[in-house]
Amino acid sequence: MGTIYVVANQKGGVGKTTTCINTSVCLAEAGASVLLIDIDAQCNATNGLGLHEVTSNTSYDVICGGASITTAMMPTLYPQLTVVPASPDLAGASVELPDRDRREFILSDALREVVDSYDFIFIDCPPSLDLLTLNALVAADKLIVPVQCEYYALEGLGHLLQTVEAVRQGLNPTLAISGLLMTMYDARTRLSSQVVQEVRSHFPDLTYNTVIPRNIRLSEAPSFGMAISRYDPTCAGSDAYFDLASEVVDRE
Ligand SMILES: Nc1ncnc2c1ncn2[C@@H]1O[C@H](COP(=O)(O)OP(=O)(O)OP(=O)(O)O)[C@@H](O)[C@H]1O
Ligand SMILES: [Mg+2]
Repeated sequence: MGTIYVVANQKGGVGKTTTCINTSVCLAEAGASVLLIDIDAQCNATNGLGLHEVTSNTSYDVICGGASITTAMMPTLYPQLTVVPASPDLAGASVELPDRDRREFILSDALREVVDSYDFIFIDCPPSLDLLTLNALVAADKLIVPVQCEYYALEGLGHLLQTVEAVRQGLNPTLAISGLLMTMYDARTRLSSQVVQEVRSHFPDLTYNTVIPRNIRLSEAPSFGMAISRYDPTCAGSDAYFDLASEVVDRE
């Protein structure tokens, strides 16, 4: 049975999508079969993997329309990686879902059909703790929290961890935190290393050893529809996501 990872942080622009794409592709290129599910109305993971014309159903059809997840799958450049693309319609999901029966379990129920067919499933969340993110937390085995190396890094983390605790108590008792991932580390600034130190001192066991550097190549890759391992396999960003993928597997 595959492990379901949710990549979440209600803070925007911290590296959720970059982490989802590059970790998924690293694992797929190492031979694992991987499914990436994009549940963000911004469709950044979908587009960042080069999928601009969606010909299948989308995660919106699965979550709001009751479509089977197998009808919402598209192949990617990477033979071992399949994507469930997002749709801008997801912007309305939080309004459409509240009256639904088992509204927090829709994604979890939908995934049951395919969880045995993949080694890893990654879910890329929107920057909010809305019902979509809640569905992902309920469906997942493990949570990865990207934390940007900047002054307000810890802000909001408490609220996220409280939400995880609430999910554990009611909806998904086995949800585990795989790790906090420090992203956009800038070796030239003292602030970056101070923030890493601070997060490590608060969460010594939870913080991954791997730190993702701020790397221009990582920000360029999505506009070419490529993961970093394809766009520039020798850059520092590529090395870092390779290390992260190994660490994620080690923490299994
Ligand atoms: N390590 C990095 N170095 C340089 N740029 C990065 C890095 N990680 C992410 N970026 C860039 O920063 C921006 C935000 O990253 P990303 O989209 O992964 O964050 P996000 O948390 O998914 O954002 P959102 O909350 O909007 O979904 C993007 O333009 C991305 O290309
Ligand atoms: Mg994103």
